[in-house]
Amino acid sequence: MSAPASLFSDDLISPEVQSSLPEGYIARPLQRTDFQHGHLDVLRDLAVVGDITEEAWVERYDWMASCHGSYYVLVFVDTKAEPSKQIVATGTLIVERKFLFKLGLQGHIEDIAVAKGQQGKKFGVKLLSALDFVADKVGCYKNILDCSPENTGFYVKCSYEQAGQEMHRYF
Ligand code: ACO
Repeated sequence: MSAPASLFSDDLISPEVQSSLPEGYIARPLQRTDFQHGHLDVLRDLAVVGDITEEAWVERYDWMASCHGSYYVLVFVDTKAEPSKQIVATGTLIVERKFLFKLGLQGHIEDIAVAKGQQGKKFGVKLLSALDFVADKVGCYKNILDCSPENTGFYVKCSYEQAGQEMHRYF
């Protein structure tokens, strides 16, 4: 069976965020054809992406789709961009299923990026709001994220509070 055209249901898109976007822009789940709509170009503004073929991108999409209810990659799209519609922002919610907290679900916010030419237009804060909406709808008791000190102020604007200290180890 082939993977679905959309990574998750449109019902999980916040109506409030949808109606707040400028004319011609929409919020929607990542779609299987979004390699062609600049998904990786937006992510390149965040970190190294590497040389990924469309085939490899689709393989990863299909894998995420097979992890039912774990990966929610959301995008904002400029539907009037030329020559074709263009992704202008993307962010991911990963839902972790715990034994703790009565088999609680914890959301992890990852890979938040707004295209360079589109930053400062409130797309970032709306993206977080849209991902928080998904987390709440699917039953997460909280969302957590790691970010650089330069971005702390942005997440405070998104109603996140500082807690703990990030630790990492590279392999
Ligand atoms: N530090 C402090 N405040 C900020 C920052 C920042 N780095 N960025 C934006 N803000 C403020 C804005 O001034 C605005 O304040 P206001 O409401 O008082 O006017 C508010 O936050 C909302 O700003 P937006 O316009 O929604 O921000 P934008 O659309 O530019 O998105 C983002 C912010 C996501 C950080 C964007 O600049 C970006 O993509 N940067 C490059 C990639 C990146 O660093 N992503 C975050 C990685 S962390 C992770 O993925 C968990």
